[in-house]
Amino acid sequence: MSNSSSTHSYATALSTPLCDLLGCKYPIIQTAMGYVAHPELVAATCNAGGFGFLAAVTIPPAEVEAAILATAALTKERFGVNFHMFTPGADIVAEAIIKHKDKVAAVSYGRGPNPELIAKFKEHGIALVPTVGKTQHAIKAVKMGADAIVVQGGEGGGHTGSAPTSIIVPQTVDAVDVPVIAAGGFKDGRGLVAALAYGAVGIAMGTRFLMTTDCPVAEISKARYVEVNDTDDIAVSYALDGMPLRLIHNELLDKLEGRGKLSALVFAMINGWQCRKITGMSILDLMKSALVFRKDGLSATQTIMSANAPVLYTKTWVDGKPDDGALPSGQIAAAIDKLQSCEEVILDIMAEADERLAALR
Ligand SMILES: Cc1cc2nc3c(=O)[nH]c(=O)nc-3n(C[C@H](O)[C@H](O)[C@H](O)COP(=O)(O)O)c2cc1C
Repeated sequence: MSNSSSTHSYATALSTPLCDLLGCKYPIIQTAMGYVAHPELVAATCNAGGFGFLAAVTIPPAEVEAAILATAALTKERFGVNFHMFTPGADIVAEAIIKHKDKVAAVSYGRGPNPELIAKFKEHGIALVPTVGKTQHAIKAVKMGADAIVVQGGEGGGHTGSAPTSIIVPQTVDAVDVPVIAAGGFKDGRGLVAALAYGAVGIAMGTRFLMTTDCPVAEISKARYVEVNDTDDIAVSYALDGMPLRLIHNELLDKLEGRGKLSALVFAMINGWQCRKITGMSILDLMKSALVFRKDGLSATQTIMSANAPVLYTKTWVDGKPDDGALPSGQIAAAIDKLQSCEEVILDIMAEADERLAALR
């Protein structure tokens, strides 16, 4: 991995307000992915001229500062941190971010934004870039202080909504007065130019960055993503954590989807117990977080099922057991047939976007 930014230059249309806000060379964000967007991936993205978010949600709060420093040891560029503002320990994470604001330029988050923490980040000049899956949520996030919004269409990986990127991006651009970044289904320069044409200031990608040689997870699991070539094999399921989650279908999902409610609950409770070891959360912490999900209208079963996720992601990313673990993915995985380095991904996108812009003139 190179640790200096590339020196290519592209059409001025491709240097957008996103580059000014985050201090990156290209309008390309690597989004947070639990267990995946760790220091190596974030640094590789930033060194290639993009902007990476470190996924702190799956790092115990007391270890987030070390993860920030580990990232900073691999890149001179500033990067972002993604975390839940509602979970116990959020104040510890916020403190680490603010302490290292020379390294951390932005925070991203989803559910449960905390007005006090938002005010603190503003005071310290850290940009607030939440991700939403609905235009109404974007409007609310801007009212609460967001400086830019990542809006994710339903084709995106992980938890996702139902509105396609082609509808939700222009709708959100029209509804808010801050820069909008398009997410869900991007991998190339054609997508970047399309997003700019919709009025967005850049693209944010998860799956494409997961499918890189820089991504520090089990190779055997990444190979499963390369094998998939039909978008129908990457569908939304509620079976894992009770919320709409886009995943590659595998043996585990077939089993989970075939279970009755009681069996799913027992499975979730066993995983909830194991989850304590992975996340460092106590049972009380887990219950407090679950209450926030409940406020968002989720059922008790769904909140207990959310404990499945960490255990099943660890099987995929750490243990290298893609049949036994969860494989969250955007549909775009079906259109990606090889792993590349972050630098290759980003420079290919920029070169192709430049060509498309020239061809449109
Ligand atoms: C493997 C994987 C893990 C993810 N984990 C998270 C997460 O922990 N937190 C989060 O906010 N989004 C998560 N996401 C969603 C991404 O941050 C991003 O919004 C999404 O991948 C964009 O769509 P794309 O996959 O089509 O690029 C995840 C996505 C993937 C593919």
